[in-house]
Amino acid sequence: MSQALNITSKNRQHYNERYKNVSIAGIEKTLSRLDAYLDEVTVTDTSWVAMFRNDFRNQLQGKKVLELGCGDCRLVAVMVALGAEVTANDIADKSGDIVAKINASGILEKPIGFVQGDFLKAVFPAASFDLVVGKAFVHHLTHEQEAAFYQKIAQLLKPGGEVRFVEPAVNSKLLDTLRWMVPVKGRPSSLQTKKFAHWKANDPHPERDNSSKHYKELGLNYFKEVEIIPIGALERFHRLFPKSKNNRAFRKKAYWWESKMSLFIQHKLARAHTVIFRKPIPGKAGNLSVQHS
Ligand SMILES: C[S@@+](CC[C@H](N)C(=O)[O-])C[C@H]1O[C@@H](n2cnc3c(N)ncnc32)[C@H](O)[C@@H]1O
Repeated sequence: MSQALNITSKNRQHYNERYKNVSIAGIEKTLSRLDAYLDEVTVTDTSWVAMFRNDFRNQLQGKKVLELGCGDCRLVAVMVALGAEVTANDIADKSGDIVAKINASGILEKPIGFVQGDFLKAVFPAASFDLVVGKAFVHHLTHEQEAAFYQKIAQLLKPGGEVRFVEPAVNSKLLDTLRWMVPVKGRPSSLQTKKFAHWKANDPHPERDNSSKHYKELGLNYFKEVEIIPIGALERFHRLFPKSKNNRAFRKKAYWWESKMSLFIQHKLARAHTVIFRKPIPGKAGNLSVQHS
């Protein structure tokens, strides 16, 4: 089996298992207090802070959005509640089950569209999306898959459209090595060699480059404009006191403190980054299941 097929099937298995008991009660609760929910997570939780920067919340009304790797579908539901028309895609069939439950519940005025399976085989009309987004998604792709995804996304974006990914960033080998040494829930320390090897064999992440430099260089093959915004240089240290009552307050302040650091340091120490692509480069069409009119 090729590396890409192997990693995709691992992801499918892993996330079908993870989402098999996901109820939509959490999403219903989120939507019932949407403003309060967003006021909190968009200043405290890295992936939400990074996705919602630059007034993303107020840009969604009336937009056609494609979300890749929608997972537990919370972000899709939120984007629809904020007025977007969203098509979601995931390799996990369970994400489709969650979408079906949300749509049947009537909690959203407009239904969520869902395309299960391989994005590269799914047929979409060219230039049909204002926004293509993914949260903690691209780092699950091999470099070969990632390049094919960018090539196809470039053809699906409307003129003036934007691609926005929020991904873990690895810009310092030293920090990365230290990070693996600290055990987290469900993942042993790299110092526990046997347990770590067992965990790694079942891990759905491919070996790949997650640096900001990699995203920039690959993105520039398909888009004229690439913007990378780092986050987490200080916030990342909240993991050292996960149970403290000051943990969330620290995270909020940390984003402000780190914004005062030099950009070089912010990049070097970043835990994650918002990767933004604009202005697709025309003429990169291949056999990528895009309907050109
Ligand atoms: C870390 S989860 C993130 C889920 C969600 N976006 C979130 O922020 O919670 C990664 C998601 O990407 C999906 N995924 C992995 N490889 C994929 C692929 N080749 N095509 C589509 N989805 C994929 C997984 O099934 C999983 O739902």
